[in-house]
Formats: sequence, C-alpha cells, structure tokens
Amino acid sequence: MITTDYLVIGSGVAGLTFAIKIAEHFPHKKVLIVTKGEKEESNTKYAQGGVAVVIDNCEDSFQKHIQDTLIAGDGLCDKSVVKMVVKEGPKRLQELVDWGANFDTNSNGNYDLGKEGGHSEYRVVHHKDITGYEITKTLLKRIHQLENITILSHHFVIDLITQHHVKVVQEKELTCYGAYVLNENDNTINTIQAKYTLLASGGIGKVYGHTTNPAIATGDGIAMAYRAKARIRDMEFIQFHPTALYNEEGASLFLISEAVRGFGAYLRNKQGDRFMFTYDERAELASRDIVSQSIDKELKIYGEPHVYLDCTHLDITEFKKHFPNIYQKCKDLQIDISKDWIPVVPASHYVCGGIEVDTYGRTSVNNLFSCGECSRTGLHGANRLASNSLLEALVYSHNIFNYLTSNSTVFYEVKIPEWIDSGTEVPNSDVLIQHNLEKLQSLMRNYVGIARSNNELKEAKTKLNSIYQEVEELYKISKVNTALCELRNMINVAHLIINQSLERKENKGGYFNIDNEHNNILVTSNN
Ligand code: FAD
Ligand code: SIN
Repeated sequence: MITTDYLVIGSGVAGLTFAIKIAEHFPHKKVLIVTKGEKEESNTKYAQGGVAVVIDNCEDSFQKHIQDTLIAGDGLCDKSVVKMVVKEGPKRLQELVDWGANFDTNSNGNYDLGKEGGHSEYRVVHHKDITGYEITKTLLKRIHQLENITILSHHFVIDLITQHHVKVVQEKELTCYGAYVLNENDNTINTIQAKYTLLASGGIGKVYGHTTNPAIATGDGIAMAYRAKARIRDMEFIQFHPTALYNEEGASLFLISEAVRGFGAYLRNKQGDRFMFTYDERAELASRDIVSQSIDKELKIYGEPHVYLDCTHLDITEFKKHFPNIYQKCKDLQIDISKDWIPVVPASHYVCGGIEVDTYGRTSVNNLFSCGECSRTGLHGANRLASNSLLEALVYSHNIFNYLTSNSTVFYEVKIPEWIDSGTEVPNSDVLIQHNLEKLQSLMRNYVGIARSNNELKEAKTKLNSIYQEVEELYKISKVNTALCELRNMINVAHLIINQSLERKENKGGYFNIDNEHNNILVTSNN
C-alpha cells in the first residue's frame, strides 16, 4: 500500500500544473503523479495552435473572447464559467511564463498572436507550431525541482477506490480513497491510498481509431469515473478536427493546425472549389463543428476520401517560420506546400463532455476532482472554441488548488483491501483484444461519426453490446493488463457517447443527427 496526500492521475497540462501548485504551497505534503506512458506523453505534448488568451487590449477584449466561446458552443455553454475562464486566462498564462515557457513574440516584443476558427480576433499565444511540447517541457522541468513530487511513469490506473471496495465506511456520501494502479515495470498492482485524487487523464480519440490524438487517449479517466458512479455529461459532443493529414491507413493522424487556416490557407475540394463559402460566410474560419460537417458533406457528395488544404498562395518563408513542424512533416511525405495541396480529412480530436465538475473542479464523488480534457466544466457547450482547452486546464487546475488550500476535510480511517488478481494468462488474448478494438473503432466511425442517425445509433448500441459481452468474459478470466483495461474503458466511453447521443433530440454544435435535420446547423451563423 502506498499512501499520499494528493494522487494526480495524468501528466498532461492539467495534472502537472495542479501538482506544481499544490506541491509549492504544501512543501511537507506528498504529491504523487501516476501516468501510464512516458511522463512526457499526453495530448498536451502535441498541441500546436496555442492558448487562447486576451492579450491585445487594443483590438481584443474579454467580451469578444466570451462571445466567440458562446457562439462556438452553440447555446450550451455555462455563461458564468465562460466569463470566469476567459478573465482568468492572462494570469494563468503569466504563471507558465514565470515557470519558463517561451511564447513567440513579434518585432515589437509583443506576443505574436495567431487566429483560429471561430475567433473574431488574433488571440492565440503559441510557441511556433509546437506549443504543447514547450508547455510540457516547462512543467516537467519545474516538477523535477520540487522534492515533494514523485512521478511514476508506466503506471496504469485501473480503477478508483470508493465505498464499493472498502468494507467499513463512515462517510455517507460516495467518496474516493485513491486508486488501484498497475505498475507496468514489474506487473504488480499497487493500492494507492490518497486523501485527494485528481483525474487529469485526458481525451478519448482512440475510441474512433482515426484520430489526431496519441495512443494514450483511451478515455480511461472518464470510464473509471463512470464505473465509480460519478456524473458524466455531454459525451455526444465529440469534436472532429477538420484538417488531419490524410493517409490511407487512418489510425493516428498528424494534425495540420487550424492556425494554418488562420494564416490564410484555403480548403478546396477535388474540383478546386473553395467550398466553405457554400456553408458559412466565415468560410475556412467558421467554427470547427461547421467546417468538419461541411467537409463531411463534400466527401459524401463527391465520394472522395479527403479534401485539400491549399497554402500555395501564402508566403512560404513566413509559413516555415510559423509552422516549421508542419512544413517538415509535409516535406517528409513529399508534399511541397508551395506547389502541392495538402490532403486533409476530419478526425476525432477532442471530447467536449466528460466528468461533470463544478467551478472548483469537484466531481459528484467526495475527494475526487477532475480537470482538463476528461472533465466537463460547461466552458465548451456543444463545441469547443479552438485553443480553449489548454486555457481551461490551466484555469481549473488553479481553481482546484485554490479550493484545496482554503478548505479542510475530515478524514476517517478506512481499510482498503489489496487488489485480487485471480485471472490467468489467456492464450490468444492479444488477438482477441486487437480484433475487438478494431470492431469497436470501425463501429464508432461508421455509426457514431460526424453525421449520425437514430437508426445507426440504435444499431451501434446493439453491436456495442455484443463487443461488451465478449470483452467482459475475457476480463473476468484474464490477468489484468493495460491493453485489455483500455479496451474495456473505450467500450464504456462508446456506451456513453451512443446513449447520450440517443438522448439528444436537437442538433447542436458538434452533434449532428440527420433525423433532426429541421434544426440543420449548417447555416450562416450558429448563434
Ligand atoms: P492530456 O494532456 O491528454 O494528459 C492525460 C494524461 O493522463 C497523460 O499523461 C496520460 O498518459 C495519462 N493517463 C490517461 N489514462 C491513464 C491511466 N489509466 N493511468 C495513468 N495515466 C493515465 N488544445 C488547445 O487548447 N490548443 C491547441 O493548440 C491544441 N492543439 C492540439 C493538437 C493535437 C494534435 C491534439 C491531440 C490536441 C490539441 N489540443 C489543443 C487539445 C489539448 O491538447 C488537450 O485537450 C489538452 O492538452 C488535454 O490536457 P490534459 O492534461 O487534460 O490531458
Ligand atoms: C490546432 O492547432 O488546430 C488545434 C487547436 C485546438 O485543438 O484547440
């Protein structure tokens, strides 16, 4: 049994920022970060565009950023949350800078601000096209300077510990006591008892297979919170990024940042038409839901596998300065962006819903907090405004820190049993896991993608149930392993997406059901 004051699940921007703050404030308390891959690996590491923050007070204002967020969210944002997050932005960004993060500046020494879909002003602070890498590097450097933080990589959290596991409990309300964690280095299962647990476990992209997300994005935190009976909301709002670099195999797709469209790139279909004008007067800079749904329509009309991003009219020297990573990636694939159009396709990118939290990041389970992509704060509504995710993670990790440093909790003694792993090594288990994973991903792409229908969703539910039965049987008899747990988690997440989609009767933002077409959102403005 390992004991700690604060257990942080995940080493992306949300988990690392919270860990730094709480460890600095309480130098005598123990902070334990567990993360399932290398400590650098997360969605955060791949963030390109940047952090949306109001910096330029001449052109921009909090009011404009608030309004853009509300419009993108299509009427489903929590207005008070939007106001709070936008207004906190500059302070939280400054903290990153104080810890050593470098963001690009222009010749006047001011931040070089980018623009992305749905933003009415230039307000995206960035480090070239590798903003997430810069943030991760900065946060990890600070983490290593703090002696009361331990970071355990290749430690996979299997499940949260709640009353369900503990025999004698004093608390009347559902409470979290820590987590069971598989140490992948020696295949042992550790029981970690924590006063407070933070779920900062990121996104779900891999549920769809074709995704901009890295392999870690399997929705584990949302699934374990759901099994622990925490409230989960808005899972029908999956954000598909319009411009993932097309490749025939699909799987993990390299992102071509929306900032490239902010820089002036055009979307074209095979005929060469700038089709976005047909769908929205903001054309390429309409919000992400509208651009992805428009591309999906074009692909269906022409039966093509991808559309194109045209950068040939842009200043390529400037392009290389702003987007060196994207330029190089295209070059490696023999795409010369000064002459060739880039083949792009929408891909699963971000989950707007997740574990419901209040403004202090509290979930519906006592002592369990959540922030970052796995949480549902009310900021994004039906569709997240580009570059509002890193911002949200920074603001909420601070809010949780504030709450925990100004409130105390009464803790009762609990006896937590060790994990009982009675399973065995099942022959061909890898093959069974891979087979079911592919079935799941293809099901989600074909029946629960950008455009859904009631019949497809019902069909998806039935098919998912048969995958669920097979995988649960395997889980019952198998020795616990990461691939099997991840598959089980992705099935839970798929279940939530499908069921919450079926409950939604109106098209909003990223949720588009052809049976609700009287509310068709492909109109000039989604305000
Ligand atoms: P993550 O950064 O994903 O971190 C989650 C952590 O949890 C990881 O360390 C993971 O290993 C760990 N974990 C998960 N499950 C377990 C488990 N079972 N046990 C142990 N550890 C676990 N947003 C913006 O605002 N601006 C951008 O420019 C931008 N660009 C993006 C570009 C790409 C390619 C992608 C994929 C996303 C982008 N986003 C962007 C979205 C943004 O990066 C993420 O939403 C955000 O970084 C999420 O941070 P997080 O800390 O919540 O989760
Ligand atoms: C991008 O750079 O296009 C991604 C931005 C985001 O997801 O917020």
